[in-house]
Amino acid sequence: MENFTNLNLLSNEELADLIDTALAYKHGEIELPTKGHYVTNLFFENSTRTQSSFQMAEQRLGWNTIQIDPSTSSTSKGETIADTLKTLGAIGVEVVVMRHSQNDWYAPLLAERSALLPKLVNGGDGSGQHPSQSLLDLITIYEEFGHFEGLNIRIVGDLSHSRVAHSNAEILQRLGANLTFAGPAEWYPTEFNRFGHWVDMDEDIEQLDVMMMLRVQHERMAPRENGQFSKQEYHETFGLSEARYSRLNDHAIIMHPAPVNRDVEIADRLVEAAKSRIFKQMTNGVYARMAILTKLYDDAMEEVDTAEVHYG
Ligand code: CP
Repeated sequence: MENFTNLNLLSNEELADLIDTALAYKHGEIELPTKGHYVTNLFFENSTRTQSSFQMAEQRLGWNTIQIDPSTSSTSKGETIADTLKTLGAIGVEVVVMRHSQNDWYAPLLAERSALLPKLVNGGDGSGQHPSQSLLDLITIYEEFGHFEGLNIRIVGDLSHSRVAHSNAEILQRLGANLTFAGPAEWYPTEFNRFGHWVDMDEDIEQLDVMMMLRVQHERMAPRENGQFSKQEYHETFGLSEARYSRLNDHAIIMHPAPVNRDVEIADRLVEAAKSRIFKQMTNGVYARMAILTKLYDDAMEEVDTAEVHYG
């Protein structure tokens, strides 16, 4: 694996390999190296989880983190992203984990095929993809159910702005899950019809295995759209209220990539309810990212048995 930009570009075998590796790290089955690679985390959009989780993964792997704050970097003087990344490559940084508001930010960089470019890991591109979040979501679902085939998974909310939804809808459909989508009609991109179908939020809640809620992304909306938004109305129509939670099957789980707008997407009291896996998702994120970083250097992984994860 030379770069990590989109989970949907990986084969099922490569996915199984990543999930196995993450879980092997989680269960202490892989010996940690003592001398690590050089990595920079470059987040042009705000982040709590992804950035700190990559940092934790890097430190657990014994990697050396060369930190840059984009707001004080020379991009503020007009230096291009490409030149910034080549500069990091020139000083010896081997891997850059980057988040940027532009969809597919990595595509023109990879097309250049410059030997100066470090390996690139996508920490989120606009409303495009969030592959490390998607991997940790897969790991969380796999730990719960042991498979993906036939699971009834509903993704709810701000689908059009959500890179999590774009990553997860495609990969979960490919792995055999039955997907339904709900939320405001104006936030439903018809391209999602390829992966599942649109339903009323209240339809067949009892049949769901996973209810995955999405954050309302006010920062990607026009001021007029934000001005018309009512938190209470959204919660009543599309949110996970206590009444909807009580209709979930005993074995069902709720997920959210976070940050959570409490009492908007999910009732405040439900964020840490028994069926919630929201904080477990964050814990699994560290192991997902350890696996991703490790897989950039395949030869280091010869000893890991990756035959355990089976889909179906
Ligand atoms: N889930 C997620 O990407 O969170 P952050 O924006 O805090 O990284």
